[in-house]
Amino acid sequence: MKILMVCLGNICRSPLAEGIMRSKLNEDFFVDSAGTGDWHVGQLPDKRSIAIAKSYGIDISMQRARQFQVEDFDIFDRIFVMDASNLKNVLVLAQTDEHRKKVRLILNEKDVPDPYYGGDEGFANVFRMLDEATDEFVKTLNLK
Ligand code: 4NP
Repeated sequence: MKILMVCLGNICRSPLAEGIMRSKLNEDFFVDSAGTGDWHVGQLPDKRSIAIAKSYGIDISMQRARQFQVEDFDIFDRIFVMDASNLKNVLVLAQTDEHRKKVRLILNEKDVPDPYYGGDEGFANVFRMLDEATDEFVKTLNLK
């Protein structure tokens, strides 16, 4: 199964979502992330995301930002977006119902708030939200 995490810049939220999700799954799963915007393409995750992940034993420093592409709809089985704005930006690119059906808000009804302009506690909050959301998703997989 292939899972894609999507936010705006692919430097704060979705790199964390990718790292946390990967830490809970085995090699049968492919986990990646992307941003709807292109400003940060090629960059490392924000140092605050790298730091909060590291404090939980997760290394995300090998990740590099990339932009979401239409081809991702065919490559990935599930596309988790962080907020309603990401949802809109991804869905506008969907070409079929099959594409649209793959896309979910990771917290179902709530947004994962963009921590970019805030302080470190925003990143800790995002980590907790994503840790819970990924736990919920992993439970639905019924892994042994
Ligand atoms: P992210 O956070 O979408 O969680 O990666 C952001 C990072 C950068 C910008 C916006 C959000 N920006 O506008 O540059």
